[in-house]
Amino acid sequence: MSITRVGIVGTGIMGTGIAEVAAASGHAVIVRSRTRSAADSVLAGVKRSLDRQIERGARTEEERDEILSRISVTTELKDLAEVDLVIESVIENLAVKLELFEDLHGVCAEATVLATNTSTLPVVDLAMASGRPTKVCGIHFFNPATAMGLVEIVRPITASEETITAVTEFAKACGKEIVEVEDRAGFVVNALLFPYLNNAVKLLERGVASKEGIDAAMVGGCGFPMGPFALLDLVGIDTSVAILDTLYEEHREPQYAAAPLLRRMMAAQHLGRKSSQGFYEYKRR
Ligand SMILES: NC(=O)c1ccc[n+]([C@@H]2O[C@H](COP(=O)([O-])OP(=O)(O)OC[C@H]3O[C@@H](n4cnc5c(N)ncnc54)[C@H](O)[C@@H]3O)[C@@H](O)[C@H]2O)c1
Repeated sequence: MSITRVGIVGTGIMGTGIAEVAAASGHAVIVRSRTRSAADSVLAGVKRSLDRQIERGARTEEERDEILSRISVTTELKDLAEVDLVIESVIENLAVKLELFEDLHGVCAEATVLATNTSTLPVVDLAMASGRPTKVCGIHFFNPATAMGLVEIVRPITASEETITAVTEFAKACGKEIVEVEDRAGFVVNALLFPYLNNAVKLLERGVASKEGIDAAMVGGCGFPMGPFALLDLVGIDTSVAILDTLYEEHREPQYAAAPLLRRMMAAQHLGRKSSQGFYEYKRR
């Protein structure tokens, strides 16, 4: 099967980025949001991103308008009935995603592949909730989806070869490099990345260095593009805690037990860039 029409559910950081990537690579995209204002914010977010690319000389105004014309928005899940592929990118919460997969099965055509952008949750659980287990897999984009080259294709034991092939071809058409991974919490990237990020918070809690010092050490000493606290703010503190909790739940290893400061920040709604306050402060959009 070939994928030309893509539905996206979830209008946060990742849903917006994936909508842009899919539309920029020629797909017809329909984004479903629970509210009209969030749906409109996706279009505004994609336009902002494309305008920045025009400023850098990476795109023309005609290209921007063409990409935007491929994206439509809706508040109705049933408007995703005829797409070839749905990518859900709602909050990292298993109960919410399970309900969504059940609902998607109720509205989408039999042939539609349902994919999740989950960072860590068991894809097989979503596959079983969907009522079409052979047609469910993970397609894990990285943040920002427009800039990061990798997509992890997650193969639950229930997925058919046809599903994995179709989604792999789609991700390649989006210009991404593919790594196929088994359905284990954290897949490859987050299983390796999150103990490091969590340990950085524990170092900070022990007073080994300031957050600026730790960030500067990892940029200057390891050549990383940003330090751990800048990255935690980019990912989102709530998403980071959810990822660590799932990793801990599956592996029961202390390296995955979220540092207390992360939970306190989450309680205070210091969620990183998306709330303008995380380890650092950001300008409100
Ligand atoms: N942030 C990252 O760096 C990153 C990277 C890769 C994958 N992901 C994954 O992408 C998904 C979305 O993450 P994000 O960073 O875009 O989060 P976000 O907080 O920016 O957006 C979350 C979205 O979920 C919606 N939502 C919240 N509660 C909901 C509910 N009860 N029912 C339906 N929708 C609800 C919100 O309205 C919003 O559209 C998660 O599964 C996350 O693990 C995140």
